[in-house]
Amino acid sequence: MKLTFLGHGYVGLVTATIFADLGNTVYVIGHTKEKIDNLKKGILPIYEPGLQELVQKNIKAGRLIFTLDYKPAIPGSDVVFIAVGTPPKPSGEANLSTVFEVAKKIGENLSGYTVISVKSTVPIGTNRKVKEIINNAKANKAEFDVASIPEFLREGSALQDTLNPDRIVIGAESEKARQVIIDLHKSITAPLVLTNLETAEMIKYASNSFLATKISFSNAIAKLSEITGADAIQVLDAIGLDKRIGKEFLQPGAGYGGSCFPKDVKALISIAKSYNYKFSLLEEVENINKQARQDIVKKATKLLDNPEGKIIGIFGLAFKSNTDDMREAPSIDIINALKEKGAKIKAYDPQSMNNAKGLIKDIEFCKNIYEVAKGADLLIVATDWNEFKEADLVKIKNSMRTPLLIDGRNIYSPEKAKEIGFTYIGVGR
Ligand code: UDX
Repeated sequence: MKLTFLGHGYVGLVTATIFADLGNTVYVIGHTKEKIDNLKKGILPIYEPGLQELVQKNIKAGRLIFTLDYKPAIPGSDVVFIAVGTPPKPSGEANLSTVFEVAKKIGENLSGYTVISVKSTVPIGTNRKVKEIINNAKANKAEFDVASIPEFLREGSALQDTLNPDRIVIGAESEKARQVIIDLHKSITAPLVLTNLETAEMIKYASNSFLATKISFSNAIAKLSEITGADAIQVLDAIGLDKRIGKEFLQPGAGYGGSCFPKDVKALISIAKSYNYKFSLLEEVENINKQARQDIVKKATKLLDNPEGKIIGIFGLAFKSNTDDMREAPSIDIINALKEKGAKIKAYDPQSMNNAKGLIKDIEFCKNIYEVAKGADLLIVATDWNEFKEADLVKIKNSMRTPLLIDGRNIYSPEKAKEIGFTYIGVGR
């Protein structure tokens, strides 16, 4: 098929590349010349394991074409995917201005039957608005349908998650559109969920909100375990053995970040409010998540007695491992709170340093964790990078001024750390 993607971020670029690799001809439309020029040279605006090689391979094969121009792309496309950002407004509501902007331009360039699929996570009812905008913008002969095909990819495993999804959700408003989308996915084996627009939109929010709920539940159990002397990791592993619960997403720590969970939980609370439903469960999920970051700061303040003038080393800045994404990363709140208390911060992250330098000021960015640890009074693990797990903790401990370690992602063994001489504090342990 001929496909067009609007947007080349973590969702658009990954999905476009996968469909190109499956043999489709895929146009990717951006709106920043420099980024498009870089993409044409195979230089990506994001880090995602394995993506750069796949992009370069498909550019060379002529299946992946980056452009600023709607003209060569939209006419004749079987499916046009809207995969632009929908960042939260201060109110928590999703900002849909870019979605509507590109919908209008798509409408103006439509010719031939086309399915417009909104990949971005959008509030329930947005697909209907997109349809209206395209209807008003299009030349009267162009035929189209809209479809909601939410994505469930995780950063750091986006390629695998796209090729091996647990299900493909297709919210379509006509049999014709449904068939086109089913055909497009024919070489991806996964259960199909065929439904309407609103249900597909709700599935996405419900999925992310439930995963966030599992994480906040784990963090609440961790807090209670610390007070009662239980080991939260063993508690959560044990309940996870129950097939009805499942072991995934029960890891307590500094809490969830990223561009999805915080945004989608806020958006669902805000959507519920607009229908006069107070989604207090999700409000509490949000509160517990904020508390998880604050608890790391509280533990640091207690350990150091007074952080004023003390040197604190931070292992990891990205919101999770295997990504360079800093959006809503717990490290940002933790660092800012400790800076406010007068601490001096040193930090290192394998991938997100460039992004972090634009977001966090007046801290020392180091080139590895050993440089972070040198002379530090306290170390805090904020991201669960594998390379931290294999660190030489003896060397680290000997280079610190005082061997204090707060393991915000429970990546180290408390017994081992204590044996080496650390005062070790985990989350829920
Ligand atoms: C999430 C959803 O998993 C994905 O299906 C959706 O499409 C987009 O949002 P993502 O945000 O990329 O994916 O990463 P994810 O692996 O879900 O982690 C989100 C956050 O939760 C990270 O900050 C991570 O550190 C945290 N997390 C995850 C926990 O704190 N505990 C866990 O057990 C799992």
